[in-house]
Amino acid sequence: KPQAVLFDLDGVIVDTAKHHFKAWKDLADELGFTFTENDNERLKGVSRMDSLNILLNIGNINKSDEEKEYLAAKKNERYVAAISQMDESEILPGVVRFLNELEENNIPYALGSASKNAPKILKQIGLFDAFNAIVDGNTISKAKPDPEVFLKGAEELSVHPESCVVFEDAQSGIEAGKKAGMYVVGVGDPDVLKGADDYIKSMEEMSVKRLKG
Ligand code: G6P
Ligand code: MG
Repeated sequence: KPQAVLFDLDGVIVDTAKHHFKAWKDLADELGFTFTENDNERLKGVSRMDSLNILLNIGNINKSDEEKEYLAAKKNERYVAAISQMDESEILPGVVRFLNELEENNIPYALGSASKNAPKILKQIGLFDAFNAIVDGNTISKAKPDPEVFLKGAEELSVHPESCVVFEDAQSGIEAGKKAGMYVVGVGDPDVLKGADDYIKSMEEMSVKRLKG
């Protein structure tokens, strides 16, 4: 029986994944190689600097630490510019209804995101105060697939990891949730996302009834 729910942000609550992709793709274009949506799957859930390292690896490019800092900052500037117009209309379908349902059933929920921009995004879409706890890229030291982000979320909600349900659209996030000992719902295509306990295409398919099985 689920006692708490942990949500990833990008690609689960809000469709920022497309903005991340665009910003990385622009950077790759400038560096002279093609970066595809398929490549982008590897960056989902992964921290900013780890993402850059994967990107440079795909392009077969070596950069100094200093240059990497510069490139990561440049990507982030563009990403922030893209998301700064975002409002509640960009919350993904079914999310608000499901959050309300959780509240009606007294099931607490937290955010578990690798993004340092998570607080800004939540404020813009009007959900900053909705979450009982927020664990994000500013508070964790080990990125997904390390379970730290979700274990901290469970701790902040004072629930055992085994009674938490995680919603994730990234392979690294599904692995993090499973390592944390949680029940993981993959949001997306089961052929792309491996190892989740259940799959939905969007939050519209989710309900407390389904969670309780
Ligand atoms: C999320 C996204 C990743 C992103 C990471 C860091 O996990 O899925 O694509 O790279 O957050 O985001 P940030 O906003 O800190 O650059
Ligand atoms: Mg995500």
